[in-house]
Amino acid sequence: MPARINVNGALGPPESAAISPLDRGFLFGDSVYETLRTYGGRLFLQREHLDRLRRSAEQLGIPYDNAPVDVEREIGRTIAEAALPEAALRVLVSRGPGPIGYDPEGCGPPSVVIYARPCPEIPGAWVREGVDVAIVRVTRNARSALDPAIKSSNLLNNFLAWREARRLGAYEPILLNEREHLAEGASSNLFLVRSNRLLTPPLEEGLLEGITRGLVLDLARRGGIETSEEALRADDLRGADEAFLTSTLKGVLPVRRCDGWPIQHGRPGPITLRILDLFEERIQAETKAGSAPDSIRK
Ligand SMILES: Cc1ncc(COP(=O)(O)O)c(C=O)c1O
Repeated sequence: MPARINVNGALGPPESAAISPLDRGFLFGDSVYETLRTYGGRLFLQREHLDRLRRSAEQLGIPYDNAPVDVEREIGRTIAEAALPEAALRVLVSRGPGPIGYDPEGCGPPSVVIYARPCPEIPGAWVREGVDVAIVRVTRNARSALDPAIKSSNLLNNFLAWREARRLGAYEPILLNEREHLAEGASSNLFLVRSNRLLTPPLEEGLLEGITRGLVLDLARRGGIETSEEALRADDLRGADEAFLTSTLKGVLPVRRCDGWPIQHGRPGPITLRILDLFEERIQAETKAGSAPDSIRK
């Protein structure tokens, strides 16, 4: 399947893509990114992703508007050129190349990199049966250190947590914050169900405001499911009636076990199944040719 990489408008196969070793994205992880995917060949929730990309850049003071190319236009070109049945995209904007010190003076313009590849498929068994998570010792970056709300490409915190989870035989780590409250996964947000209420940590706990998280909260509320964003602890997850993860590439993914112990009966519960249905309906509605994307209500 033809993957394609676009670097500042130069579009070709991954082998021919090149970026300066003095790019701050490479040197410091001084860049921001988004992961998007298509359903039925159409980008899902593109506006929300591009808005968050711009917000992340602004929070780091990366001058997004000085980018040498129009990000949205280049996304369209890259997808068209890759011609994949379903594409996963990584869209990255770095501060650009410059002197090797921290001072951003003389740095730039920003580099724009767009990587289109075949969308990885989530095995049906994972959705039907759930995946295993582990609460790891690596804690989520403090908001005062590197705010997890910024989707930066400085992903060592996430990677170290992921590596610990894999050592423990789990698919996804669950990170706590410095107050030992549940924050999120390495590349996902976390939801629990307790007494028929859908619970998820609030943004103040230090986590990415996931686009899928926002959509799930909206779908649940419109579907008459009571939701609450509240501080939660490890034992709330271990003792939950149901749990699931959300992300652009994972969609809605039930959790079967936490730290080796089953969540309730160890299979997706009724609220998780209902959310999966609502999510699927939304994808169908949005990918129907000609349908205008519905915005997510907060
Ligand atoms: C740390 C983290 N939290 C949550 C998410 C889920 O976000 P979204 O639903 O916007 O993909 C991601 C996605 O990659 C992530 O990296």
